[in-house]
Amino acid sequence: MLSDKSFPVIEATLPLVGSRIGEITPKFYARLFAAHPELLDGLFSRSNQRSGNQQQALAGSIAAFASHLVNNPDTLPETVLSRIAHRHASLGITEPQYQVVYEHLFAAIAEDLAEVITPEIAEAWTEVYWLMADALIKLEKGLYAAQANAKMWTPWKVAAKTPAGTGSMTFTLEPADDTPITAALPGQYVSVKVTLPDGLRQVRQYSLSGDAGTSRSFTTKLDDGGEVSPVLHNSVAVGDVIEISNPYGEITLKEGDGPVVLASAGIGCTPTASILRSLAESGSDRQVLVLHAESNLDSWALRSQMTDDVERLDGADLQLWLEQPEAGSNAGFMTLREVDLPANASLYLCGPLPFMKNIRNEAISAGIPATKIHYEVFGPDIWLAS
Ligand SMILES: Cc1cc2nc3c(=O)[nH]c(=O)nc-3n(C[C@H](O)[C@H](O)[C@H](O)COP(=O)(O)OP(=O)(O)OC[C@H]3O[C@@H](n4cnc5c(N)ncnc54)[C@H](O)[C@@H]3O)c2cc1C
Ligand code: HEM
Repeated sequence: MLSDKSFPVIEATLPLVGSRIGEITPKFYARLFAAHPELLDGLFSRSNQRSGNQQQALAGSIAAFASHLVNNPDTLPETVLSRIAHRHASLGITEPQYQVVYEHLFAAIAEDLAEVITPEIAEAWTEVYWLMADALIKLEKGLYAAQANAKMWTPWKVAAKTPAGTGSMTFTLEPADDTPITAALPGQYVSVKVTLPDGLRQVRQYSLSGDAGTSRSFTTKLDDGGEVSPVLHNSVAVGDVIEISNPYGEITLKEGDGPVVLASAGIGCTPTASILRSLAESGSDRQVLVLHAESNLDSWALRSQMTDDVERLDGADLQLWLEQPEAGSNAGFMTLREVDLPANASLYLCGPLPFMKNIRNEAISAGIPATKIHYEVFGPDIWLAS
């Protein structure tokens, strides 16, 4: 909770800082990487820095956190914090790094707001930063402690590389050493670290797409303009050893016996396919509705896995939306307007942001409470900033 002293200062300066944060964060990253160039090797994504996405995500989360503290003084935005903590833990962020980020962020704030900043304003925003940082540090410590090992990276051998629909590839891994393995929950992801042709190491997250538990397989869509997916598709070969993190991610199947709706578009089917697989493996009698959207049937990366699992479940149904429709599919983009959503359902969503925003709005209009809608974003969560 914000102190009585800082509360009015944050309330009064939120519009100003909020409006400048888009200028403050590039200054912050410039300072951070000038002082710590090693953070770009194997930690921050070079592409996110180039496109500005990460800056938008960080800016959005700080502004959202401050306005949450002002509007709901007695609570913390648990969902937002949990998402960031899982992402941070999958990257091995450590407590001392928060001090480093603090110093460079506040130097950037002081530079950008030089004409208006007072010691009182700096102190109040320092309090906001450490409230958020302390909450994240605590969550991240808990996430690290829950793992079966204390290692950030573990070597895994590529046992198979299987084409999965047009432009996608499933990587099946097996342990390359005897590090104890954390059982992953369906819907979770791992960070994957590769070395680029220019020698720089880069990390990306990939949802586990098959059985969760102690097995590891993930399915990637090739992004020709990207840095990591081309290396995975074109350079990493069967028999190679790659480094992956322990599993993280809070969008996992919640316990219960209520109906489950899994809605995905494109490569967003990876976490929903893993949830579906776990329901099929456990012989669940929950009602399951699988909704998937693709441009055409051939590009559906996990088509046979998902259709097989729907077949195995008595209570499961599948509906498809294809831009190039086939018999039995809907034409065009997914909409819930004609879908008979089960009462009391939980909705798990993954796909491009405009798709998820639209489906979430339609689900809420159809009576699914926001608290029962869970979404995974395949990139910095710029939804937070909007
Ligand atoms: C929790 C989570 C789970 C995920 N699960 C999966 C999964 O199961 N399967 C999957 O395929 N992906 C998944 N992703 C996405 C994955 O992590 C990568 O983002 C994706 O593979 C692209 O990585 P890349 O390195 O190939 O591309 P990047 O190098 O990250 O580039 C991404 C895009 O940015 C563009 N770009 C680069 N520089 C600029 C610039 N200056 N201006 C504008 N644009 C630019 C590139 O052209 C490219 O199109 C997941 C992401 C998260 C966060
Ligand atoms: C209070 C402090 C911090 C806040 C508010 C914050 C916020 C965020 C947010 C919102 C994201 C995007 C998460 C997502 O959408 O998945 C993110 C990602 C990330 N954060 Fe932080 N963060 C903080 C501290 C740190 C620290 C101390 C480090 C370590 C130097 C760090 C490194 C990263 C990295 C590497 C990513 C992934 C970004 C990428 O690969 O481009 N963060 N953070």
